Amino acid sequence: MAHYRQVGSVPAKRHTQFRRDDGGLHYEELMGEEGFSSDSSLLYHRGVPSAIVDSQVWELPDLTTTANHPLKPRHLKLHSLFEDATNPAAWKALDPVVGRRLVLGNADVRISYVVAGGPSPYYRNAVGDECVYIHAGDGVVETVFGALPFRTGDYVLIPRATTHRWVPDVTDQPLRAYAIEANSHIAAPKRYLSRFGQFLEHAPYCERDLHGPDTPLLVEGSDIEVLVKHRGSVPGGVVGTVMSYATHPFDVVGWDGCLYPYTFNVEDFEPITGRIHQPPPVHQVFEGQNFVVCNFCPRKVDYHPLSVPVPYYHSNVDSDEVMFYVGGDYEARKGSGINIGSISLHPGGYAHGPQPSAIEASLGAEYFDELAVMVDTFRPLDLGEGGLAAEDPAYAWTWAGRGPDDPAVFSNS
Ligand SMILES: [Fe+2]
Repeated sequence: MAHYRQVGSVPAKRHTQFRRDDGGLHYEELMGEEGFSSDSSLLYHRGVPSAIVDSQVWELPDLTTTANHPLKPRHLKLHSLFEDATNPAAWKALDPVVGRRLVLGNADVRISYVVAGGPSPYYRNAVGDECVYIHAGDGVVETVFGALPFRTGDYVLIPRATTHRWVPDVTDQPLRAYAIEANSHIAAPKRYLSRFGQFLEHAPYCERDLHGPDTPLLVEGSDIEVLVKHRGSVPGGVVGTVMSYATHPFDVVGWDGCLYPYTFNVEDFEPITGRIHQPPPVHQVFEGQNFVVCNFCPRKVDYHPLSVPVPYYHSNVDSDEVMFYVGGDYEARKGSGINIGSISLHPGGYAHGPQPSAIEASLGAEYFDELAVMVDTFRPLDLGEGGLAAEDPAYAWTWAGRGPDDPAVFSNS
């Protein structure tokens, strides 16, 4: 996100001597994207940022995937993945990183869900940027750039290779998080930005809505383990390593630049509306390589006297569409069994749209109280172990009202 920010102490001139109180030098680290040709930040450490004392294999959670074959739309009930969510002892034993269960994935992005209450290990994702939507809960993400508070409705954007740790602030309710892990960078759509990177007037949000770290953490310590998710020659291309650092990675006294983690709350997204139905790109919030992120927010709906407020049927010939139903009452999915915490997957090669009863029911509506986060991918999505475990088998047949000759198929509709 190309907006300059400075936190803590930095020398007046980059790449010059910057001494500690004891007379020794700080250690300057440039963290930059695309070689030295894109956004970067300069961080000033008390210790040597490359000093590791051990490196071991981190056995990652199950990231295997299964093709959506035979092809059909899917309804995945994510809350069912964490049946113990009412038991604090169970969710406090889980953390927001290692506890993630893979729901959907392809070669560009992995989507997982977690219900947790414990602090995560120190962690960094060297595969790509992470965009974690906070379904419920608050807390702090401690990062090498400083503390980043988060709350319900935040997207937490963490650039590739940012060392961080999740610290949920929980009492009687767990943190619920929907993690979108890219194999690339995630940023605002280019069409929202000027050629020099400023948000334009037609964009549904702007710089004032983005919140970065304010102060360095200045943590001391030794032999600190950091879980590193990185690229490797295995199926899926993702492997894990535990690196142990001689000094604490959060020993940064200051940094400046245009690369850092930040939050954006979905309530700060200003919906774009019209007399007739507006297409999904007006709901876009971020983009990565071969996928986009959109949000459907509470909004005034189409105000032509003959408008049909729910979407027309549409065939995503180039993409798979994943809706995560976060809040409110999603009008187009009435009669489908979908609820808060559900995902719908509408794959490429299949025309989808409202359940038929939802069309008449929407006529005359002036306002939709709905909140959903959508990921559209330009390559097909496979089902992760969590996706397979959470499936409602009735969903695919809810438009027709009948399907395979199996009474159990309709048990959830
Ligand atoms: Fe759609």
